[in-house]
Amino acid sequence: MKNVKACKIALLASGSGSNAENIVRYFEHHPKVEFPLILANKTEAFIHERAKKLNIPSYTISKSGFENGEALQLLQQHSVDWIILAGFLLKIPDNLLQAFPNKIINIHPALLPKFGGKGMYGSHVHEAVVAHRETESGITIHYVNENYDEGLIIFQAKCPVLPADSPEDVAAKVHELEYRHFPAVIERVVCGALTR
Ligand code: GRF
Repeated sequence: MKNVKACKIALLASGSGSNAENIVRYFEHHPKVEFPLILANKTEAFIHERAKKLNIPSYTISKSGFENGEALQLLQQHSVDWIILAGFLLKIPDNLLQAFPNKIINIHPALLPKFGGKGMYGSHVHEAVVAHRETESGITIHYVNENYDEGLIIFQAKCPVLPADSPEDVAAKVHELEYRHFPAVIERVVCGALTR
């Protein structure tokens, strides 16, 4: 892969951004993957603090900025190849879907198609899993299309849900799966595409 140009990944997050940080750290010594910028839709999102620590420029783009092409312009200025949603809550607008066909990947904290769709995010997902007395939950990594949580599934991993588990217990197990698998799946997809 000596002469292959580096692949540039934009990370999008709405909140804490612990997955985003875990992904950047995983690729720290990877010669072919770079993170030119991080986008958040809230100024107060903790991901901005993490971005500073990681030395990656981060920008706040509002919902309308995603819809009116401001985000797209920024991503193109940074020559971004792939977009990874790591806890990003806004719907991805058509302008991004068209500019990055099959190049936008999301992680969902449940086993899709169960517990997906509008309103199914963060703690709501884990509360629903416990309320439905599910015996397992997990993660789904998938391509993003025009409908929430409906794009082609790339990878799933499961964890048990015990009768005594609280939504917080399930969230902790799911986060652990996210940290373990998300960076490696990104590497397989992104670097696989690089060598094709
Ligand atoms: C993760 O559970 C992710 O699957 C979901 O939002 C959470 C984000 O956590 N979409 P963090 O901001 O990466 O800590």
